[in-house]
Amino acid sequence: MASIPSSERDSFSSKFGVIAAAAGSAIGLGNIWRFPYVTGENGGAAFLLIYLAFVTLVGIPVMMSEFVIGRSAQKNAVGSFKRLAPRKPWFLVGMMGVAGAFVILAFYAVVAGWTLSYLFDSARYLVQPDKYGFGEMSTEQLRHFFQEGYDSFLAGTWKPVVTFLAMMGLTVIIVLSGVRDGIEKYAKILMPILLAILLVLVARGVTLEGAREGVRFLFKPDFSQITGNTVLVALGQAFFSLSVGMGTLITYGSYIQKRDNLANTAVSVAFADTFIAVIAGLAIFPAVFAFGISPDSGQGLVYITLPVIFQKMAFGSFWALLFFLLLCLAALTSTISVLEVVVAYFSEELGMNRKRATLIAGSSIGILGLMVTMSWGPLANVTFRDLNIFELFDASPAYFLPLGGFFIVIFVGWFYGRNNSKKELSSEGKRSIRYYPIFIFLVRYLAPIAIALVFLNVVGLIRF
Ligand code: PFF
Repeated sequence: MASIPSSERDSFSSKFGVIAAAAGSAIGLGNIWRFPYVTGENGGAAFLLIYLAFVTLVGIPVMMSEFVIGRSAQKNAVGSFKRLAPRKPWFLVGMMGVAGAFVILAFYAVVAGWTLSYLFDSARYLVQPDKYGFGEMSTEQLRHFFQEGYDSFLAGTWKPVVTFLAMMGLTVIIVLSGVRDGIEKYAKILMPILLAILLVLVARGVTLEGAREGVRFLFKPDFSQITGNTVLVALGQAFFSLSVGMGTLITYGSYIQKRDNLANTAVSVAFADTFIAVIAGLAIFPAVFAFGISPDSGQGLVYITLPVIFQKMAFGSFWALLFFLLLCLAALTSTISVLEVVVAYFSEELGMNRKRATLIAGSSIGILGLMVTMSWGPLANVTFRDLNIFELFDASPAYFLPLGGFFIVIFVGWFYGRNNSKKELSSEGKRSIRYYPIFIFLVRYLAPIAIALVFLNVVGLIRF
């Protein structure tokens, strides 16, 4: 217990715990559900290259900045700005993050709920293949079957609601147990299992006959597909996937012990996140191509396309079970990090105890999420520019995360003071920070300019 910082705040206990928890936040549906389908829709390898550039040049500097802010202030996303910049409006960046947490969790836990439902279905197929198997159906029939199943599942009322509430419930239970005994403990168990399952699936994917096309799709760039909008999608995806731009990693940073190396942690987490996204693509695209299915089937890629493929593979239900288990676990270590942003804010800024803060945050996000589950059913008519509630919630992080990230790097680069950031990154002078000139160049110039250019392009003020 001697290692708990002086303020008696809960904290992560070990370096592996920090990385497991932060990588647990980063690795999630964004890697396994979203990355493959946005890559599929935006030109494969060319998209991947732009994505990698954003992760390295923008994502890592934002992540390090969030860690610096959280660990120096020892506070939640809003309180950190209040402490480091008293009586200045910077805390609004943290407020935007807390509001963003509501939006992200409300749609994210819904998708996590679909995953849970598919997990149960695959388990049922496995134990009662006669009853639930699909026998001699053609691909067309199968596709139709799942498409219908998926559509009616989404439009249905009770199943998405129950599975969404189950995922929210699990999230609340883990967050209630605290940082070290909840978040860190579960991340340390779940992340290695997740990696093991994914590696088994990759081995299966790349050894399918005809898999090579899928591998080529992921690694051979075709720049003709790239437009200004693709660049925004890549930037938004990098932020979403790394969990940066809304204070999640300010909050987690505040639980990192003073002796731990922030730069090293950020690079490890970004590397792990990118590695998992790419190998999730390697598990999925070879199978998509091997069975002659189009790679750009959008959000339904893992919920429609993959089940079709699983049914055609030997022991398909087993692979399906593994895959959806993987997705559920990955989702859970991310949902807890989003809820923690709100819980830390409620408990430290609004003076609630942790239990009350978690229950209030969980239930209010639960209510918002219920509206999202009805996006294809009773609330299908509520649309904005042809996007339903779910699609609006899903699209908005591509805007508010980079915007949050912009202010975070500007804060650390221009307002926080070099001596302060150096002190934090070097653990008060105890470690060498030879990379510091590169870091400061990225946070002062390159990252904010890159984000600004992408936005100016989107609103049409410049064209590239
Ligand atoms: N990074 C998570 C994923 O890729 O699934 C999603 C996420 C978690 C986004 C936490 C933002 C966040 F603060």
